[in-house]
Amino acid sequence: MKILVTGGAGFIGSNFVRYILEVHPDYEVVNLDLLTYAGNLENLADLEGRENYRFVRGDIADAGLLDGLFAEGVDGVVNFAAESHVDRSIEDPGHFLATNILGTQALLEAARRYRVNRFLQISTDEVYGSLAGEGAFTEESPLAPNSPYSASKASADLLCRAYWKTYDLPVVVTRCSNNYGPFQFPEKLIPLFITNALADEPLPVYGDGLYVRDWIYVRDHCSALDRVLHDGRPGEIYNVGADAERTNLEITQTILEKLDKDAGLVRHVKDRPGHDRRYAIDSSKIQTELGWRPETPFQDGMADTIDWYLRNEPWWQKIKSGEYREYYERMYRNR
Ligand SMILES: NC(=O)c1ccc[n+]([C@@H]2O[C@H](COP(=O)([O-])OP(=O)(O)OC[C@H]3O[C@@H](n4cnc5c(N)ncnc54)[C@H](O)[C@@H]3O)[C@@H](O)[C@H]2O)c1
Repeated sequence: MKILVTGGAGFIGSNFVRYILEVHPDYEVVNLDLLTYAGNLENLADLEGRENYRFVRGDIADAGLLDGLFAEGVDGVVNFAAESHVDRSIEDPGHFLATNILGTQALLEAARRYRVNRFLQISTDEVYGSLAGEGAFTEESPLAPNSPYSASKASADLLCRAYWKTYDLPVVVTRCSNNYGPFQFPEKLIPLFITNALADEPLPVYGDGLYVRDWIYVRDHCSALDRVLHDGRPGEIYNVGADAERTNLEITQTILEKLDKDAGLVRHVKDRPGHDRRYAIDSSKIQTELGWRPETPFQDGMADTIDWYLRNEPWWQKIKSGEYREYYERMYRNR
């Protein structure tokens, strides 16, 4: 099987490329990524030179580029490419609409024209908005996005539905909860707090810190995507989560305890506008229908993640200093 993975130089995409080549060593992967600030080819440095892996730098909204790639033959598309940081979407929504909506539409269109067998759209539980009271989001919950980021992702989900209904393109959408694990860009909560705590710098907690997120270890998300890619029913949506609800303050305490740092590092800062209070995801559909289960308990995943950041300080120091951007030039300039 030949898969076009988009956004494969980002956090989840790079974990997925490595995962898919580990469990399906005979597959071919083309990784199309624009290398925005969030894309880092060092995430996949260990795959350089493998015959069945190729990196292409480019924009998912570039119809001409897509035409060339699809003409070479593509069996399946896995679309991770996105502007993904909520705070950045509040500062500048335009990029989010261009990539997350128009970029997804360009990819859908190419997939339709070249009749690919499977289009997997990686969406998010944030499309459901904020949960009031008990319970969890199911695939039937109404879409009620509250940030420009989640609104752009919800729009992409609806385009996917339209391409399935109108053109019979075999699209499947997954909506996953918050991921954590190796290679996450250190402006997101968990890696930001780990790396700041290691440097004895303040940990900026939004508002009262009682916002609840449902956390999943990134490898468990990858195994769910592998299941859906192969056996998900076209036109369906699958929620993915690991039943690990934690407040931001609980996450902060876990990190401080594991690193043996002082609670005095915590700084409560002004809240994010439109901040969703609680997300929780009901993933019984993927569990019942496709037999998928998350395998990593939260405590184990956090211990592994903290350990990974401790062992890979050069990786995140280069991001914090901006040096990671030179990697592409070094590796690909003369190719
Ligand atoms: N991180 C999470 O907790 C989470 C949870 C659920 C769903 N998701 C979704 O999973 C996907 C991946 O998230 P992530 O956290 O790995 O994001 P990320 O920001 O780490 O990676 C995004 C990647 O997309 C690339 N990209 C951006 N615009 C592009 C474009 N126009 N063309 C080609 N490539 C482009 C970037 O260079 C980067 O490598 C996103 O679609 C996101 O909405 C993320």
